[in-house]
Amino acid sequence: MHSQTELQKTYVETPINIKAESALKLSVSSWLVVALIGQWLFALYILTTFAFPLVGGGVGNVDFSHMITGYIEGDNSGNFAMLAHIIPAALLSMGGVIQIMPYVRKNYPAFHRWNGRLFLTLGLIGAVTGLYLTWGRGSRLSDIGAYGISLNGVLILVVSLLAWRYAMLKKFDLHKRFAVHAFILINGVWTFRLYLMSWFMINQGANGNNSTLDGPADLFFSYACYALPMLVAELYFWAKRQKSKVKKAAVSGVLWVGTLVTTLGVFGAFTLMWLPRITQVIGS
Ligand code: HEM
Repeated sequence: MHSQTELQKTYVETPINIKAESALKLSVSSWLVVALIGQWLFALYILTTFAFPLVGGGVGNVDFSHMITGYIEGDNSGNFAMLAHIIPAALLSMGGVIQIMPYVRKNYPAFHRWNGRLFLTLGLIGAVTGLYLTWGRGSRLSDIGAYGISLNGVLILVVSLLAWRYAMLKKFDLHKRFAVHAFILINGVWTFRLYLMSWFMINQGANGNNSTLDGPADLFFSYACYALPMLVAELYFWAKRQKSKVKKAAVSGVLWVGTLVTTLGVFGAFTLMWLPRITQVIGS
């Protein structure tokens, strides 16, 4: 038997809490939709400017001129690392968001497992080749500007392996938490482009940025591109554990701001960075 107060509590509190919970879910889903569009546009850029021309006519058919080092005749190991870094990034960008969508996870567990193995393997390859390109091949614009992305690379290795290990141990709560952080870290370079382009749009040009990517704003974004989304993810996990509808609503508000920034970033990165190169390749 439920006491009078217990019943009252259930009647009064549950609908409001359900609303707060739904608001939280809706804000995450909205972010996921925007991220899916943004990541697929990044994949489209990689496919049209690197992968398709490479398959169609070999390296001579690819324009590497906008890159830091790009392709160097005779540098077989460097060229191999560069291509092994860039080409799988298309697949990585296409499979990532699908991987963390609750609907896919629940309804297609076998796909989730295989796509997860592929995503983490490609993420590990991206981090190892990225670290090699930066510090082994010397593809960096400045030392200080490369520290942020290098820490990103090291964290990808640690966090991805932990996410994988917890899945194998069937510790799914820990797996989910580390997998979300692995997803954020692996997409750090994508987020960096989004932040930079939003910043350019808001300031109508550079402000604290320079051509070697070590201006104060560049340095801030080089760490913020993964630290900030990781903080928001932890806030979300915390809000889910809270009973207070105010706390849930506040975090949902933070996530809406994140969705707005992501939308601006996707628009900026696509129109200012990716689309001009795509149209150039298609036109030539
Ligand atoms: C794993 C996630 C990563 C993805 C998806 C990714 C993707 C890419 C893409 C698409 C490019 C081509 C640049 C463009 O045309 O815009 C690129 C270049 C580059 N990436 Fe990454 N990257 C990742 C991680 C890293 C990390 C962790 C590092 C360094 C520690 C790194 C270092 C580099 C360097 C140095 C280049 C330029 C190579 C050159 O210009 O010759 N990347 N990356």
